[in-house]
Amino acid sequence: MPSTRFYSLLASVALAVSVRAGLPDKIYGTNIGSWLVLEPWMLPQEWVDMGGQQCSDCSTCIASEFAFAQAYPDTVDAKFKTHWTTWFTQSDVDNLVGAGINTVRIPLGYWIVEPLVDRATEFYPKGGMVELQRGLQQLTNAGISVILDHHALPGVASPGQMFAGRCTNDVQFYTSANYHRALVWTAVITALSHVDPNFAAVAALEAINEPIMDANQTPGMGDFQKHFVQTVRAVELSLGVPVPGTTPAGIITSATNVSEALTTASTKTSLFNADVLAALVDAVPMFTYVVEQLGLNIVLETNGLRDAMAARSPLVTTFMDINWQQNSPANPADAAIGPQGYDNHLYYSFGGVADATEDAYLTSVCNLDRIEKDAALNNSPLWFGEWGLSTQFDATDDFLKKW
Ligand SMILES: *[C@@H]1O[C@H](CO)[C@@H](O)[C@H](O)[C@H]1NC(C)=O
Repeated sequence: MPSTRFYSLLASVALAVSVRAGLPDKIYGTNIGSWLVLEPWMLPQEWVDMGGQQCSDCSTCIASEFAFAQAYPDTVDAKFKTHWTTWFTQSDVDNLVGAGINTVRIPLGYWIVEPLVDRATEFYPKGGMVELQRGLQQLTNAGISVILDHHALPGVASPGQMFAGRCTNDVQFYTSANYHRALVWTAVITALSHVDPNFAAVAALEAINEPIMDANQTPGMGDFQKHFVQTVRAVELSLGVPVPGTTPAGIITSATNVSEALTTASTKTSLFNADVLAALVDAVPMFTYVVEQLGLNIVLETNGLRDAMAARSPLVTTFMDINWQQNSPANPADAAIGPQGYDNHLYYSFGGVADATEDAYLTSVCNLDRIEKDAALNNSPLWFGEWGLSTQFDATDDFLKKW
């Protein structure tokens, strides 16, 4: 891969900027889990009521979105529509505001960009994008910032996990064909985040949730990290969204609409690397599909869209932190162009973090050194994008208040 030929006009600014752009200085957050990526273990009864199943090895029964869609091709879309509209509602948004939450992370599957799905071999519900737009409108109106998280990736990125969309040991994400599909998804979601006013709350985009922890099993991750950031920035520069420290590409000045700007960008071999250009080429028709699905204006002279692009903040590109992986992982800090943040996940209930006592938990959490260890490797700012309150023991109310 010609990885030296990326972004010649941007090469000098990598690592220079560490602002948080559209994210609050201090995040009080939660996930909107099991909404657009349904993990049956979180809602066992509702899942069974929908027609799902439970089994000890989730690859052997209807225990993922993929298995459900394969089993019920005629009713899957309607069943999931009911789930989407009832699982996350305006009253949830009101409760988040009441609790002082200022940021949410929304896990998404690649299948929300429907043309990315190979329907001969891949099975997922349709219609999630419209619900995402509805939820983002509610969150935008409530003033809550959003981290969109590519949680379930094409080809499956983690074995034996419901969160991967399909529960299987046949992990195919870490291949050039699926890295490409993930970049296409990235380009479409980046463009939408800026162009659709309902997406105004979107401040950050996470490249991949929880890759396999052994870096020997994730070949190509370092290149993918770089291409992910370059794709986000290529779309932003095409749309006229200013990215600190970079020179505007000037593409938007001659374009009449966003599709034309992206099409023009996809030909700029002097600006963008070949993998990024290939992603843009395939993203244009998929972006057009979603624009029609959501009924968006993309004409730059209509409703002040051109000025709105110039007023947007760049997305905070986001990765799991380098210490998520072992065995000499690539450092996502090496991919940064413009604002970037890092995500670590902390669950005591699965064991391995601290002894199963109240004292050990509190001693551990008060002395946690993950932020410092990451900062030493330029993985800063760090946030805990998943943080499980559950414990390995019956917690007292007194303990939970300290926890
Ligand atoms: C965008 O511009 C292209 C090129 O001028 C044109 O073919 C296309 O119809 C336009 N799309 C919209 C939605 O205006």
